Amino acid sequence: MEDVAPVKSMDRIMALCKRRGFVFQASEIYGGINGFWDYGPLGAQLKKNLRDAWWQDVVLDPCTGLPGPDGEPVAIVPLDTCIIQHPSVWVASGHAETFNDPMVDCRETKARYRFDHVQVYAPADDRDTDKPLFAFVADTPAEGKQRKKAEKAFGEVKAVPLAAVPRERWTRVLAPEADKVGSLTEPRAFNLMFRTYVGATATEDDVAYLRPETAQGMFVQFRNVVDSTRVRMPFGIAQTGKAFRNEVTPRNFTFRTREFEQMEIEFFCHADEARAWYGFWRDWRMAWWRSIGLAGENLRLREQAADELAHYAKDGAGTSDIEYRFPFTDPDFGEIEGVAHRADFDLATHQRHSRAKLDVFDPARGELLADGTRKGERYLPHVIEPSAGLDRGVLAVLCEAYTEDPSRPSPELLRLHPRLAPIKAAVFPLVNKQGMPEVSERLHRELAGELRHVGFVEHDVKATIGKRYARMDEAGCPFCITVDGETLTGQTVTLRDRDTGQQERVAIDRVTGLLVERLRG
Ligand code: GAP
Repeated sequence: MEDVAPVKSMDRIMALCKRRGFVFQASEIYGGINGFWDYGPLGAQLKKNLRDAWWQDVVLDPCTGLPGPDGEPVAIVPLDTCIIQHPSVWVASGHAETFNDPMVDCRETKARYRFDHVQVYAPADDRDTDKPLFAFVADTPAEGKQRKKAEKAFGEVKAVPLAAVPRERWTRVLAPEADKVGSLTEPRAFNLMFRTYVGATATEDDVAYLRPETAQGMFVQFRNVVDSTRVRMPFGIAQTGKAFRNEVTPRNFTFRTREFEQMEIEFFCHADEARAWYGFWRDWRMAWWRSIGLAGENLRLREQAADELAHYAKDGAGTSDIEYRFPFTDPDFGEIEGVAHRADFDLATHQRHSRAKLDVFDPARGELLADGTRKGERYLPHVIEPSAGLDRGVLAVLCEAYTEDPSRPSPELLRLHPRLAPIKAAVFPLVNKQGMPEVSERLHRELAGELRHVGFVEHDVKATIGKRYARMDEAGCPFCITVDGETLTGQTVTLRDRDTGQQERVAIDRVTGLLVERLRG
């Protein structure tokens, strides 16, 4: 039989995240706020390291030197646009009208559910019954409670999407936590954008929205970027930043939240080249996630089916999702990044609504002239959009790194990629005497100085050496250096590798150089 790895426990991953300061519930001392999470000291640095890795490989050294399909270096410029934009931006983009989730309300408990997330437990043999159908949302406390009630009523049960239950039978549906059947309303469209007011008067004329994606800022500033820089087609604009969606049912830890961060690229090119660029970005983005540690079978690329495509993608070559098999989606996968061929939808719609001219003159295209130059061509660029979720990326990285191994000093450890690990190295004296702390403190100072741009270096003198290794393994620190008796006589230390647990003796004056090299990883 095939050896299948057991699904990792999300409860244990979440417990480690809290215990070691990766992720905290937002406003926890007030009971928390649903759909919002904070990053603790280690999580904040891990998240920054992932964002920095993206910025480095997208903005500063685009595609780490890999040429584009035209054989030229890939050109990307950065941008940083506002969370609040003119409300017309969201009318033009379609979000004001179509960024909706159908949802149902429970009249009794006042709870609101995403229609496509609600299921009911019904008799497994489909028999007709007067008893209630027990509604639930997967992975919530109500799921287990409703299942128990349904099994008591029917014996064997199965889960059926609420959408598949005929409307006339909704009068018998018992909503989660409700006492009486028939309390669910018809599904209604619910716009996911957060509303706020700009200025002091707070009338309907002052309504504004928190951006639901960073993308629109890049389209809206397209003209200014072209006019203020020397970019030539094809080129991309990139930005990272917060986005807000009033998700009806936020869930699965930081996977679906109401405040999250995106890392987006809008790549502009001629329509004739868009398919080639779409394939290029899809493949390079997949390779990038692999390069930072999502290397195994838990990562996959999935081309969206025609009926899944957003309206703008229909004219393009399609959309691919880069998906990770999270413990809570297993055996299925959840999206961490979408790569979409958006054709000229975005620039065309903003051009129409704003009346600003958003086309470009490209001197490298058009008819070849007698003098060897080209006549040039004016056109509205097409767009390829690789759009990644930073929080989902961090969550995938944490889930992939989380390892249980009872034979180790720490039965739980994080095998974080060295580039992402918030603590890069730790230095210990074997015992806190005999001149060892002085040497380890000196080495710590040297290492911390050298690595201060990429992460933390810890110095720990407390507890047994086994416990100190265990603490660092749990925090995902890739390298531990121990100063011992031999250091004092032979000027060597032990360098321990987190993943193998193996130790090698290294000359103390070579440690810093060696770590810098290995952390490049
Ligand atoms: N501009 C295109 C766009 O925003 P999207 O698929 O809606 O596309 C892109 O979002 C990425 O943003 C997703 O792949 C996901 O990683 C992240 N994302 C979207 N909604 C999210 C949420 N509620 N919580 C956390 N991340 C989310």
